[in-house]
Amino acid sequence: MAHVIVLGNEKGGSGKSTTAMHLITALVRAGHSVGALDLDLRQQSLFRYLDNRVDYMRRRGITLPMPRRVKLAASALDSRTRAEAEEGSRFESAIADLASDCTYIVIDCPGADSVYARLAHAVADTLVTPLNDSLIDLDLLARLDPVTGRVRGPSVYAEMVWKARQARAASGRTPIDWVVLRNRMSTLDARNKRRVAGALAELAPRIGFRLLPGFSERVVFRELFLSGLTLLDLKDTDPQAMTMSNVAARQEVRELVRSLDLGEGGEAPAFRTMGKSRPSEHRKARITAA
Ligand SMILES: Nc1ncnc2c1ncn2[C@@H]1O[C@H](COP(=O)(O)OP(=O)(O)O)[C@@H](O)[C@H]1O
Ligand SMILES: [Mg+2]
Repeated sequence: MAHVIVLGNEKGGSGKSTTAMHLITALVRAGHSVGALDLDLRQQSLFRYLDNRVDYMRRRGITLPMPRRVKLAASALDSRTRAEAEEGSRFESAIADLASDCTYIVIDCPGADSVYARLAHAVADTLVTPLNDSLIDLDLLARLDPVTGRVRGPSVYAEMVWKARQARAASGRTPIDWVVLRNRMSTLDARNKRRVAGALAELAPRIGFRLLPGFSERVVFRELFLSGLTLLDLKDTDPQAMTMSNVAARQEVRELVRSLDLGEGGEAPAFRTMGKSRPSEHRKARITAA
């Protein structure tokens, strides 16, 4: 069975597609066969990013590792029930198709609730939720008390993940490893940063996610889209671009891949150095706690 990595949250602009592209690149560069689904049917940012990569290769006359893509379309059926059923079977075939020859399947979700997004959450082995480093984005995970900043309860999205987890537990499969990462962290806004950090630390054990550091705010993330490249490609395609800032950014990407505990996901030996805190043990601990 392929390992399914889903990029999800119900807010746009938090870094799902950017993170998906970097994870895909890390995996294909490590020699894995990777399948990709872009469930943001309107914007298709991930597939456009990959189209840009194809263009780049053509222009330069070079080959870069690529994932295998399967395109999904919205059902055109009038009845909601029949449309959902049709999307359900399209999704199932897409996963079966990709799983036939891919070790990893990376699914990028839209920044809103959709039938496809729910189906994706239900098959996730790893769920990655990037969060802009702000209190507004935290609202996606939990309702905070406006005066004290303390957690009042989970949000609709956290409840959707909870339901996906329940369904998965009922089917006897390994639990979803839910990872939240802070994106676009700025060195400036120290007070906001502390408040977000405090609330996330309080939330993690309550909602059941692992908190990972994520990425700092860096212009390079926006610039790379057009060339279809990621921070992991630059050393080969454009060595001049490996400035100190880009090397630091690439390190953040590598740290993320390492901490995702994707088994043979590229940088496996480093997992061993993590000793007791192997994420898979967090997962086991969560099952026992549940
Ligand atoms: N760490 C970052 N620093 C700067 N810009 C970023 C960062 N992460 C993402 N972006 C930019 O923010 C925008 C939204 O990111 P995107 O990955 O498309 O989010 P989503 O898929 O969640 O809607 C894009 O223009 C992207 O280049
Ligand atoms: Mg997106």
